[in-house]
Amino acid sequence: MCGIIGYVGRKQANNILIDGLKRLEYRGYDSAGLAVLDDGTICSLKRVGKVRELEKAQEHFQHNGTIGIGHTRWATHGIVSEGNAHPHLSDGSHFAIVHNGIIENYLPIKTFLLGKNYTFYSDTDTEALANLIDYHYQKEKNLSFVEIVRKSLLHVEGTYGIAVLGKMFKEEIIVARKSSPLLIGIGDGENIIASDASAIARYTKQVVYLNDGEIASIHPDTFSVTTLYEGLVDTVYHELDWEISDVDFKGYPHYMLKEIFEQPAAIENAMRGRFTQDGSSTKFGGLPLASQELCSIERLLFCACGTAYHACLEGKYLIERYARIPVDIEHASEFRYRNAPLGRNTLVFVVSQSGETIDTLGALYEAKRKGNLVMGITNVVGSTIARATDGGIYQHAGCEMGVASTKAFTSQLTILSMLALLFGRRRDMDYATGQQYAHALRSLPERVEEVLGLSEEIRLIAERYYRMEHFLFLGRQGMYPIALEGALKLKEIAYVHAEGIPTAELKHGPIALISEGAVSIFIATQKELLEKTVSNIQEVRARGGKVVVITNDNRIEWKVISDDVIVVPEVHGGINPIISVIPLQFFAYYIGILRGYDVDRPRNLAKSVTVE
Ligand code: F6R
Repeated sequence: MCGIIGYVGRKQANNILIDGLKRLEYRGYDSAGLAVLDDGTICSLKRVGKVRELEKAQEHFQHNGTIGIGHTRWATHGIVSEGNAHPHLSDGSHFAIVHNGIIENYLPIKTFLLGKNYTFYSDTDTEALANLIDYHYQKEKNLSFVEIVRKSLLHVEGTYGIAVLGKMFKEEIIVARKSSPLLIGIGDGENIIASDASAIARYTKQVVYLNDGEIASIHPDTFSVTTLYEGLVDTVYHELDWEISDVDFKGYPHYMLKEIFEQPAAIENAMRGRFTQDGSSTKFGGLPLASQELCSIERLLFCACGTAYHACLEGKYLIERYARIPVDIEHASEFRYRNAPLGRNTLVFVVSQSGETIDTLGALYEAKRKGNLVMGITNVVGSTIARATDGGIYQHAGCEMGVASTKAFTSQLTILSMLALLFGRRRDMDYATGQQYAHALRSLPERVEEVLGLSEEIRLIAERYYRMEHFLFLGRQGMYPIALEGALKLKEIAYVHAEGIPTAELKHGPIALISEGAVSIFIATQKELLEKTVSNIQEVRARGGKVVVITNDNRIEWKVISDDVIVVPEVHGGINPIISVIPLQFFAYYIGILRGYDVDRPRNLAKSVTVE
C-alpha cells in the first residue's frame, strides 16, 4: 500500500520520479507527490487524484535537481487532500520524507514537538517523523545524515518504509524499513530506491532488498546499509526476474483484462519443470523436505488473505479429496493473534501473491515462533515472505498489476492442485490415477484458452445484468471457494452487493434476498450433486430471481430453467475450479466497465496490503 520512489544520480530526477510513480500507482491512488533538491532548496509538488494530475502539474514545475523522492498515497491518517499527500516537509523545509506504514506513537511525538515550537500543517503521522528528524538535526548539527535519521527512528513505534531528503545533503537519500518493503536498484552512476520492483525494472536488474531494522545511505555511485543499531550488514545482491514488458498494457485497455488473458502462460510457468519423470506426480525444488518428512506430515495449515485465502480454501478441498490429508485454513489476520494450537507434524503454508501482505507475514512469524516449518507460495521473487519462510514455491505468474487479482489466483490454484497430486502420490493414490491427474494439469493452458474464447459471450450477458444491485454466487464443495472469489471480484470492481454461498445454504437464510432485482449465479460444473443444484435453481426461479448458470453438462435443459447459460469445457476435478472461475473474472470485469468504473484502480483499494 502506497508507493515510494527515489532517485539520486546525474539525470533530472522529475521525469524518473513520475515514471516510477505511474508504475507504482496500483499501490495507492488517492494522491501523489514528489520533492527534488534544486540548488540547495527542497521543492515539492503534490496533487490529489491520479499520478496523471501530478504529471500535468509537473509541466510547470521548473526544477532540474538530480536527486528526489516521490510517493503515491493510500490514505491511513487524515483525509485525502494535498496537505496530507506526501512528501511531508519538516517545519522550515530542511527535510522531506515519504513514508509507507503507520507511526503508532505519532501523537506523543507530535505533542513533544509542539512543545518545542514546531508547527504542523497536515493530519498525518508522517509529518511527526519529518519534524523529529529536523529536531535531531537542530540538536546536533555535526551528525551525519544517516545518524540524524537513525536517532529519530529509535523513538518510533509502528511500521515504516521511508525515504528522506535533506537540503544540506546534496547527493544523499536515506532509506529505512520496518515491515514495509524497500529495495535499492543499483545503477551506473545512479541509484534508485522503490517500495516495489515494478518501478525499478526498467532502469536496472541488480537490486538489494532492505531487511527489517535496516537503514541505508544512498549516493549516486555508492550506498551502504547498516542496522538501526549500527551493525554492519553484508550486502546481498539479487537479480530481478522482471521484464519491462510485464508492466505494459500490451494493447489491452486494462491490466485486469490483460492479466485474465495471460492465464495460460502464467499456469504454464507455474508447472514448468515440476512434473516427475514417470509423469505421475509433481516435484518442487523449493520444498526442502525429504521423502520421509513428506510422508510423516499429519496435517496442513494454510494462512492467507483475500483472494489468496480463497485459493487456500480450494486447496483444502483438493488436498483432502486427492491426498486424504486433513487441511486447516485460516485468515492470516485471525491466526496471528489467536494462539492456535499447532501439532508438531503440521506443515504450515502461507500464500501471498505480493509476498508482502503484513497479516500473512504476521501469521508466518507466529507459526515459526511455535516451532513449525513454514513454506511460502508467492509470486514475487525476493519478497519478504519468500525470504522469511523455510522454503516454498514461486508462482512465476509474472507481474500482476491489476488490483483485483486474477492470474495470480489461478496460478495459486494450479500449484495447490499440484501439491494435492504430490501428497496424493505419497499416500494412497495409484500410478494410473496420478498419471491421469498430471495429464489433466498439463492440458490446463489449452483448456483455459478455450474458456478465454467466451469473453465476448460473457460481455453480452453482463450487459443484461449490469444495472442490478444484488448478486449471489452459489457453488457446492470445491465450487464454494470459486463462488466466494466470484463475489469478491464483483464487489471490488463493480461496487455491488455480492455474496458467495454454499448452494445448499441458500434456503437457510440468503433466499430472503431473492427478488426480481437479484441475480443468482450457479456454478454447476460438478456432475455430483447436480440434481440437487437444479432443485435450488427452481427455488430461486419460483421467487422471481434471475438465474445464470455456469456448467459443463449438456444433459439438462438449462435454457428452460435459467435466464443465461455459460458452457465451459468438462475437465478433471483437479483443474475444474480453474476453468470455472474464469467466466466469473470476465463477468466482474465487464460489469465494472459497463458501470463506468476504473477497474484497475477500484475505489478504496490498493495492491499489497502492508498495514494491519
Ligand atoms: C483481491 C485481492 C486481495 C489480495 C489480498 C492478499 O482481488 O487482490 O484480496 O488477494 O490482499 O494479497 P497477497 O496475495 O498479495 O497477500
